[in-house]
Amino acid sequence: MPNRHIFLNALHGHNQGRPPIWLMRQAGRYMPEYRALRQRYSFLEMCHQPELIAQVTKQPIDAFGMDAAIIFSDILIIPEALNVGLQFEDGKGPIIERPLHQASDIDLLPSIDIAESLQYLSKGVSLTKSMLQVPLIGFCGGPFTMASYMIEGGSSRTFRKTKHWLLRDPSSFHRLLSLLTKYACQCLEMQVAAGVDAIQIFDSWTNALGYTQLREFSLPYLELIIQRLKNKVPVIVYCRGSTGFISDLVKLAPNGISVDWNAHLADLRRQVPRTIALQGNLDPDVLFAPRSVIRKEALRLVESMRGDGAYIFNVGHGLAPDTPVEAVRTLVTCVQEEL
Ligand code: CP3
Repeated sequence: MPNRHIFLNALHGHNQGRPPIWLMRQAGRYMPEYRALRQRYSFLEMCHQPELIAQVTKQPIDAFGMDAAIIFSDILIIPEALNVGLQFEDGKGPIIERPLHQASDIDLLPSIDIAESLQYLSKGVSLTKSMLQVPLIGFCGGPFTMASYMIEGGSSRTFRKTKHWLLRDPSSFHRLLSLLTKYACQCLEMQVAAGVDAIQIFDSWTNALGYTQLREFSLPYLELIIQRLKNKVPVIVYCRGSTGFISDLVKLAPNGISVDWNAHLADLRRQVPRTIALQGNLDPDVLFAPRSVIRKEALRLVESMRGDGAYIFNVGHGLAPDTPVEAVRTLVTCVQEEL
């Protein structure tokens, strides 16, 4: 059974009893209800329609009863509003038709009004809130991660174009990051005004950066967003590879840090004061294991964080589209009922 209080309690550091659970990418293709809707609409059509946003956001809550919902949207809707030509091709991930190649391309980006361009999201949040019993998480991409898609033109394994740009011409890269930070703040403030209870920033590809690059091109912008938002609602940051620079993230003073699956969370807690919630960090591939293994791994994680009032159960990265539905049910039930 979901508990509507414990997610926010954990973000404030005073949860008692079992940890709250929600899962990154908990709405999506692994659910038959989602695939049924996707037969009729493209992914972006679904992102653009408030009724569909609300419907898809609720699907995993209705099916499995997680303790929080995350609004159905994408980190690339800001680049889309900047008219770079976003497409999603099945099996290929996102494609940006007009990627940025040089500094002058930044000046050609239109100046946009987020409240107008992303009005569908604001409506989607209000509608979802009116239909939902558990807290709702809003989100945006980290400026570095959004910039990397706009430069690479889609997903990348190496991020070479992005890294070569920031090494060759740091000042224009900062200009792009500042612009995206401004829009990210506006987008999050709009979601807060529409009713989200917490926020997560996905700077997913920080693991591509060297440490000095990270300190120059990712962290300062995350800090600006955190400072702007955290007096309104709790803010969680998610960076791949963050276990290598956790003390830098602690200095940004977010309300929560979402961790990938490489670290032992209880060890990490020694470096993260309990004024900051820790979220994570089950390897999402565990969900492909037999039921007994899922239960064992989940309980091991819960046990290692027992008594920690600022712990939120989650996966270390988003659920894969072929995740077995029954595995998700097993996981949620196990965390909620087997303590
Ligand atoms: O977590 C949730 O349930 C909320 C919704 C959400 C989506 N994308 C829905 C989605 C969130 C929080 C995101 C964030 C996102 N989007 C990130 C950061 C987190 C991460 O996963 O690292 C990134 C890098 C993106 C960009 C993006 N969007 C990619 C790379 C893809 C393709 C993935 C794939 O497997 O094809 C998407 C598409 C996407 N975003 C889908 C969903 C449900 C699948 C779309 C479909 O139905 O085809």
